[in-house]
Amino acid sequence: MSAIHTWVCFLLWISLSTQKGTPDVMVTCFISEDCRLPCNFQPDSEATIEWFRQDVMIYKFEQDEEENDGDDEEEDNDDSSSEEHLEQQQVAGQMFISPALVSRGNASLVLKKIGLKDRGTYRCQVTTSKGQHGANVILRVEAPLHGLSLELSRMSGYEEMICTINNVYPHPRVSWDTEPSTFEDLRPVTRMHNNKQGLFMVNSRVKLLKGRPNLIYICKVTSSYGGPAWTASLKEREIKWTQGKDLTIPCTSPSYLDSPSLEWSYSNGPQHSHILTYDSRSGHSTSTPPWNKYVELDGFRVPFGDGSLRLMDPKNSKHTGSYTCMFSTQYNTYTERTNVIIDGPSGAKAGETETRASDKPSYWWVAGLVIALLALALVGLLVYMKMKGNREKKPTNDPEEVTELNVVKDAAETKPNESSPFTEADTDR
Ligand SMILES: *[C@@H]1O[C@H](CO)[C@@H](O)[C@H](O)[C@H]1NC(C)=O
Repeated sequence: MSAIHTWVCFLLWISLSTQKGTPDVMVTCFISEDCRLPCNFQPDSEATIEWFRQDVMIYKFEQDEEENDGDDEEEDNDDSSSEEHLEQQQVAGQMFISPALVSRGNASLVLKKIGLKDRGTYRCQVTTSKGQHGANVILRVEAPLHGLSLELSRMSGYEEMICTINNVYPHPRVSWDTEPSTFEDLRPVTRMHNNKQGLFMVNSRVKLLKGRPNLIYICKVTSSYGGPAWTASLKEREIKWTQGKDLTIPCTSPSYLDSPSLEWSYSNGPQHSHILTYDSRSGHSTSTPPWNKYVELDGFRVPFGDGSLRLMDPKNSKHTGSYTCMFSTQYNTYTERTNVIIDGPSGAKAGETETRASDKPSYWWVAGLVIALLALALVGLLVYMKMKGNREKKPTNDPEEVTELNVVKDAAETKPNESSPFTEADTDR
């Protein structure tokens, strides 16, 4: 009884699915690239191919036996003197069918340099002497992720990580994680809006958790069409160092990255330069001059996650700046940025002290200057107190004034940020 029932259901399903014809084909193409909409049929000497988009004919091609001999692709089109000839030529810039493939039963339509407006349902209709054949193609257009950028901001009066992704479609999925993971809620705020082309601009931010200075914050982004997850993470620190003393700038790869490559670079204001690259496959590191004279990387330790850079005989003038270490795999980056401040022995006049052979006399000079200034300040204070007489003011009043000044300054800084212009017109279609 139940066996018969199953059979009836099965036959019903067969008849229904054959009635509907070939199922819809889903095609995903990348924006600005050429895209092929597939359509195949039983080859015949005569075939008329029509392509429709949302029931409007957009391309027609007629194949004749005589014209079919040559395998030339574009020439065959020119020979036909049909009404559609001109129309075909006009749209030829945006789409084409290859006549050589049609003779082999392949009527796929190529759309050139597609945009978001090309999304939708297409239908191919082939008429041959054997009958008609049709197929639906659903085209999705994707503007893929090329990367994400992560910045640490103190603009709002507190520290926060800001992750930005630009020009993607459809809207991506953004999530945050920490290494090591924490049970605390990160509460990310993610904003997306469309630009003029309809592509998404994404901005996601998290406040850094208090009392957890060694946490790594990971911004994770995936396309809603699937594909790999892209991640970025960032750590920042500052090192104050003395000129002439070798310095090791630390950088440790997080455990979640699998045999990453390593790159060190330097920047100071508008000045940017590449220091060195370590290739994880070859195990070789190459440094660019003039950095090769000052830096050293222990290549044997990099596979174990230690990418620390040794800076030899650092100079205040040349080596103060921001050192960026980036561990990366195809879709993941981990960045450590170290702000290195190299104190010249005399502080201000670095150029002069560089020519000196020994550092010690200048230290004494600095100490002498500080003592002299202190003495001068003390004398000044005594004179001031004497002049004021009984209206004695303690110098401890000053810090209060300073903090009050800071509050005012902070308020001034946060104000423009509160009214940050975000067009939250998230038109997710
Ligand atoms: C149709 O032709 C295109 C272009 O050569 C090819 O990529 C595609 O695989 C062909 N389809 C079939 C079913 O042969």
